Amino acid sequence: MQVRKAVIPAAGLGVRFLPATKAQPKEMIPIIDKPTIQYIIEEILASGIREILIITGRGKRAIEDHFDVSPELEYHLQSKGKQEVLERMRQIADMADIHYVRQKEPRGLGHAVLCARSFVGNEPFAVLLGDDVVRSETPCLKQMLDQHARLGGSVIALEEVPREDVSKYGVIKGEQVESRLYRIEDLVEKPPVEEAPSNLSVMGRYILSPRIFDLLAVTTPGAGNEIQLTDALRRLVREQPLYGYLFEGRRYDVGNSLGYLKATVEFALELPDVKEQFARYLRDTVGKL
Ligand code: G1P
Repeated sequence: MQVRKAVIPAAGLGVRFLPATKAQPKEMIPIIDKPTIQYIIEEILASGIREILIITGRGKRAIEDHFDVSPELEYHLQSKGKQEVLERMRQIADMADIHYVRQKEPRGLGHAVLCARSFVGNEPFAVLLGDDVVRSETPCLKQMLDQHARLGGSVIALEEVPREDVSKYGVIKGEQVESRLYRIEDLVEKPPVEEAPSNLSVMGRYILSPRIFDLLAVTTPGAGNEIQLTDALRRLVREQPLYGYLFEGRRYDVGNSLGYLKATVEFALELPDVKEQFARYLRDTVGKL
């Protein structure tokens, strides 16, 4: 069955980015001049999905405003003759058909995904986590959709991480069945290094069977006392095929400061008007270390 809907959980409090996230959603923190959530929306659209649900919470209104029209701003840009910027701002509002639902309390990723149940209904759907921004030739979500179209079942994106980093992620136990493809046997959320079944971490792109909703509804709080999507996937794997796909591309975990800095620097090095000067600046600065 074709995947028509995508869900972005964006209700988290952004504790790792305080104080920046005290009065603004972490999803609105920009990489250069574009909020991180816009990169995610663009990936969804580039992958051919148009129906998008963002799970928000209190204090997240800026996300809705960002994807809405801004008559005052448009009037101002028009009267100043700034046509090019005006067009870009309109495009953001026209981008997609975005729906919103609020998660009333932060009870974890699994609980946030469960809030998408009535929007999704009984069909497979995509979940994209805003902390994972991916640069790739074929959009990461499109790679996942292609695997899903071929294999059916549920498919989650995997990335090999250094052993010492496994405790930051969901980690899988699985058998490689093709190049880049694993049949998942089990998963564990944020295991201690010595208990991790592999160094294959779950990256924030999932194509899920709607059965996950029934399983999430009976999942009790796990790691961090939160309802974990990983724990529901663990049950799903006992009932239905679950694949892991080592996506092609570069992932930036912008939910931590090092990943965020890497994304900012690498994206800046692609900006035509500043890249040369910026590269020279970086070389000089690093040379002095
Ligand atoms: C979430 C998931 C985890 C996954 C990670 C990917 O964790 O629970 O399984 O590996 O996203 O970024 P979070 O980063 O929200 O703590």
